[in-house]
Amino acid sequence: MAKAAVQFACTECGYSAGRWFGKCPGCNAFGSLVEERPPDPKRPQAKPLLRLVDVSAEESARIPSGVPELDRVLGGGIVPASLVLVGGEPGVGKSTLLLTALGAIAASGRRALLVTGEESTAQVKLRAARLGGTDQVEILAETELETVCATLERERPDVCVIDSVQTLYAQELGSAPGSVGQVREAAARLLRVAKEAGVATILVGHVTKDGAVAGPRVLEHLVDCVLQFEGDRYHAHRVLRATKNRFGSTNELGVFEMTGAGLVGVPDPSELFGKTLPGEIGAAVACTLEGTRPLLLEIQALVAPTDLAMPRRVGTGVDPKRLAMIVAVLSRHAGVALGSADVFVNVAGGLRIDEPGADLAIALAIASAARGAPVRDGLVAFGEVGLTGRLRVAAQSERRLEECAKLGVAAAVAPKGTRSRSSLVLREVETLREAAGTALERVAPAGSSQNPRK
Ligand SMILES: Nc1ncnc2c1ncn2[C@@H]1O[C@H](COP(=O)(O)OP(=O)(O)OP(=O)(O)O)[C@@H](O)[C@H]1O
Ligand SMILES: [Mg+2]
Repeated sequence: MAKAAVQFACTECGYSAGRWFGKCPGCNAFGSLVEERPPDPKRPQAKPLLRLVDVSAEESARIPSGVPELDRVLGGGIVPASLVLVGGEPGVGKSTLLLTALGAIAASGRRALLVTGEESTAQVKLRAARLGGTDQVEILAETELETVCATLERERPDVCVIDSVQTLYAQELGSAPGSVGQVREAAARLLRVAKEAGVATILVGHVTKDGAVAGPRVLEHLVDCVLQFEGDRYHAHRVLRATKNRFGSTNELGVFEMTGAGLVGVPDPSELFGKTLPGEIGAAVACTLEGTRPLLLEIQALVAPTDLAMPRRVGTGVDPKRLAMIVAVLSRHAGVALGSADVFVNVAGGLRIDEPGADLAIALAIASAARGAPVRDGLVAFGEVGLTGRLRVAAQSERRLEECAKLGVAAAVAPKGTRSRSSLVLREVETLREAAGTALERVAPAGSSQNPRK
């Protein structure tokens, strides 16, 4: 019999080759290639086929997780027999969130199991005591993949959380836990158990420095949903996003606050983050769209004179390239000179903005800081800034305007062509210069109060 080919796979990027390299040709990491022995191939067995018409499609009801923000991100609850991957940086609160959910699921009469490989049962008990309401959750402290799968097949809980997938190991693979081969094998085997035994399985995965789920990207292809749990260590707020969802829309967003008693959902983040003080210089409110959810977010900017040859442009929660572009457009097309000033931009609550619809508010916050004139009270801005200084209509403007109206916003400034059906005043502007003219209050004459009000 031919000798099984030995493969070497990179633990960072998943690159695989027939020989070992000191430096991974895929991602240039050093010493990251590990040996991967393929499991013995079994003799394949043919299976009978079905016609789609004969498939019984009783759309089984979703399992409410008991955490409304989590349900929203999942698209309305946990789908039975699905496989969900939850990624997040260390300490962001993955275990806390999932233990809370398991507690609620168990309390509703379903069976909820926590497989803990990272923490001892006593450590989980400590967290459970802090969170409360988790008495009925079953627990298994195990890292051996075979044992976990066998237990799942026998017990068949409704929902099972594996904390974390990187701690599981299959003995026959021979590589270390957390290596590409192990993680892939664990996910593949759990996927099979999830589908066959009808166990909705949630895998906790660690993320690398770049924010991707550690181990192979292939994990993301295997699972039904990929959720990212993000948050600034220095802020109490955490954001849960779906980056892939086979049963619902992606880019949904759930906002939580970390408190002593666990994670508390923030059902209306716009109320919390979407407010500026009247007359405050360097602050603007953006209406961004996260998935299907419009969000009002305060953007703060500081413009400070500098002697540096290359002034700093520092953005927290905004893409640095986008920030540099907005600063350049402001200087070139809107008459806001920033060539000898440092520019700092911050998004309220430690949230991150990815979409270009927030450009206009970022630009207005910077213009306000540079000119020392506040943005008009109760004004919300959204729209994409183009390189020519012209504004482009942001996607789904009607949705955004509805959210503004719901929160009692008086007026919005948006690019020309934005359609509105809501009752709030819409100031349509064509260029960034015009937007700054419309949105900013008149600058107080020199010598008057530092904080000019209307
Ligand atoms: N008593 C407490 N009061 C407030 N917050 C707490 C308390 N205890 C823990 N936390 C918060 O919980 C976080 C840890 O949560 P958790 O263990 O769920 O994170 P995790 O994502 O599972 O981490 P890991 O990747 O290490 O498993 C801490 O960073 C801290 O912010
Ligand atoms: Mg944990």
